[in-house]
Amino acid sequence: MKAILLAGGNGTRLRPLTNLMNKHMLPVHNFPMIHYAVQTLAEAGADDILLVTGRQSAGLFIDYLGGGGQHGVRIAYLIQEQAGGIAQALELAKPYIGKDEKFILLLGDNLLEEPLRPFVEAHLAQDTGTAMVLLKEVPDPHRYGVPVLEDGKIMRIEEKPCYPATSFCVTGIYFYDGSVFDIVADTVPSGRGELEITDVNNVYACRSKLFYRRLSGWWMDAGTFDSLHEAAGWMKKRASAGNEADT
Ligand code: G1P
Repeated sequence: MKAILLAGGNGTRLRPLTNLMNKHMLPVHNFPMIHYAVQTLAEAGADDILLVTGRQSAGLFIDYLGGGGQHGVRIAYLIQEQAGGIAQALELAKPYIGKDEKFILLLGDNLLEEPLRPFVEAHLAQDTGTAMVLLKEVPDPHRYGVPVLEDGKIMRIEEKPCYPATSFCVTGIYFYDGSVFDIVADTVPSGRGELEITDVNNVYACRSKLFYRRLSGWWMDAGTFDSLHEAAGWMKKRASAGNEADT
């Protein structure tokens, strides 16, 4: 299975640290943030990872991850010249994905506790031409894409709404197949000048082809100082629990 791992963006909420280096290379407990994303994908069964990043720190990703052998995966790199949104970064990956081929799209700043493998299996069982997102209940849904739910279905997703319809957010873990690239091609830039992944997902929702599952363990978008700090705490706890289990 292929995965596209997005590690670009300007990291504006983490300035001035991100003046110096790409957000995904910042430390989270004892590893750079990107380490966890690669680990998550490897555990999910992704063996081919396409990492999309900007020019800043591109060499550091290669220094740290190399060809991916240490994680038991193959990593290839693509440069997004300018941060133009998640859907624009996704579009760059089009030549690497077959028409009906299913894949995972992961935002590199999304850190989570539970394994993705069961969700991968659910996605593989879905019809082609469908997509799946993972939802997580959060105290601050206005910071994210928020699903409007009706009869157990996502009617639409609202991006960073002032008045969230639910207490769930759409996490940066998406499951698509090659059909997504036709949708991305028809997407136009939003008010902030970006190709929004929420607009892409809303096309699936409109066609009743957007499915979802809920995450039950902890999940974090580590894009702010508070969440970065909290994520480091979670990773420390997880590492200590692992060490205890080993002794
Ligand atoms: C992006 C998406 C948003 C999603 C979030 C998850 O937001 O646009 O819908 O909920 O990732 O991390 P961003 O972090 O780019 O503002």
